[in-house]
Amino acid sequence: MSLSVNHLLGIKNLTAADLQLIFETADKFKEVLNRPIRKVPSLRDITIANVFFENSTRTRLSFELAEKRLSADVINFSASGSSVKKGETLLDTVNNILAMKVEMIVMRHASPGAPHFLAKHIQAAIVNAGDGTHEHPTQALLDAYSIREKHGEVAGKKVAIIGDISHSRVALSNIYALQKLGAEVMVCGPPTLIPRYLGQLGVQVSHQVRQALQWCDVANVLRIQLERQQGKYFPSLREYALYYGINKALLDSLNRPVTIMHPGPINRGVELASDAADGEHSIILDQVENGVAIRMAVLYLLAEKIKSYN
Ligand code: CP
Repeated sequence: MSLSVNHLLGIKNLTAADLQLIFETADKFKEVLNRPIRKVPSLRDITIANVFFENSTRTRLSFELAEKRLSADVINFSASGSSVKKGETLLDTVNNILAMKVEMIVMRHASPGAPHFLAKHIQAAIVNAGDGTHEHPTQALLDAYSIREKHGEVAGKKVAIIGDISHSRVALSNIYALQKLGAEVMVCGPPTLIPRYLGQLGVQVSHQVRQALQWCDVANVLRIQLERQQGKYFPSLREYALYYGINKALLDSLNRPVTIMHPGPINRGVELASDAADGEHSIILDQVENGVAIRMAVLYLLAEKIKSYN
């Protein structure tokens, strides 16, 4: 079995079989990660560059650890402190990195479509680590994998994605992944933070957080992305927290457990209170743990494609 794609640009172009293959491969790597020696030689002949034009904690560290656990050679690039600040283009930057004999590029970029552009112009496997407000495929994979781990399967589960949908790349990738795996999806947030086109993707839309929580098995709570917001989408953070914030008292009032997820970083006390983020139904740190196994699986499967056509 192999992936149907040579790059991981988004979830949109993956098949359900690709998702299952990534999960089954991640299961094996998760077992490796629980051994005393958490390393395998699978990518010892591969060099990977992590190219980050935007800030990151989880994704960047998780990719780097996944690469090292697979014995790849790793180089790291951040736009700050680089020659991008002197005006070098994206294509020149990446071509210079590739001239150093690099086979794979993991890239985060503020512009939607930047990894798709690169994939058309360079000879290397590209992994999208988040492109603007478009897609964040490995986040959606680790989210769906964590639901599968917690609930046994994703098919038939009801997942509410709650928060700033408009400025989120996690939302779109999650919708594609969850639907391909047979889950039902609802998005919830103020009307100003839900794009009109979402109705065309076959998701339910709610503007009431209690209604969304009463409906779902899993709530994936998204950050208010103030750094991406150009206008005023709600009166104040205090008001947002009052109407859309999730806390333990609200969860307890449902009289049924709802699994709480968040891709991070959390604005504590805004979209999610600490007593819910750290509560008994939260799997937020399991998501982070699973991110390493999922990224090992993605890198391993893409490297297998490289080896097959070399
Ligand atoms: N979830 C996520 O992408 O977090 P970082 O921005 O810290 O990588």
